[in-house]
Amino acid sequence: MRKTFIAGNWKMNMLPAEASAFIEELAGKLGNYSDARVMVAPPFTSIPSAADVIKGTGILLGAQNMSDEEAGAHTGEVSPLMLKDLGVDVVILGHSERRMIYGENDAFINRKVKLALKHGFEVILCVGETLEERESGKVEAVVEEQLTGGLNEISEESLASITIAYEPVWAIGTGKTATPEDADNVHAFIRKIIDKLYSSSAAEEIVIQYGGSVKPENSAELMAKENIDGALVGGASLKVDSFFGIINYAKA
Ligand code: 13P
Repeated sequence: MRKTFIAGNWKMNMLPAEASAFIEELAGKLGNYSDARVMVAPPFTSIPSAADVIKGTGILLGAQNMSDEEAGAHTGEVSPLMLKDLGVDVVILGHSERRMIYGENDAFINRKVKLALKHGFEVILCVGETLEERESGKVEAVVEEQLTGGLNEISEESLASITIAYEPVWAIGTGKTATPEDADNVHAFIRKIIDKLYSSSAAEEIVIQYGGSVKPENSAELMAKENIDGALVGGASLKVDSFFGIINYAKA
């Protein structure tokens, strides 16, 4: 049985005081709610203040990126050892903004996935096509390549620590959401690839989030789809009310 997983990716937003206030308010609203796993990923500089208040709330602490190295001459990078020390539980890797703006490729992302698993983190591995790729009929080819590359040499046992986030690039921050049917079709295709790379039980068990303009108004119909197990939320995760509305979709 796959457990719903709702994650907020705050991107380059939220000062330390804002992050801790957000988490305290969200935790108050969630109470002992346990229908879904909930995570927030502050920017690196707000992780310490988030970590101070998140303990004991049941909310998972995420990071938006991580170095592919543990230490040394890597100006501007943040090591898995540093994130571990701060109490981070989950790292988001391969986000399309990392791929497109900062040139991260599948081999590089795969190194990070391996390093994150080595240090005991859960990973959210992001995949998704651009509008151009969608319009030229390449959705499945792109998603298969990103999955195969990102999961290279990852064992089936380790796959239990990985969530896949399908984020069509054209739907991120644009207000355009993939229709629930379109998203579900790609999620089903992702399961097919996991089946091919691993096994049918791995395909059945892997949690697949959808990301791209998810908001309280559309989360219920997305989440109702058979293959959609949660959401990776950008803009709508910056306000407690809208993020809580997404988490609470089942009761909305
Ligand atoms: P939006 O929800 O703002 O479209 O962002 C999605 C995303 O990129 C989450 O990682």
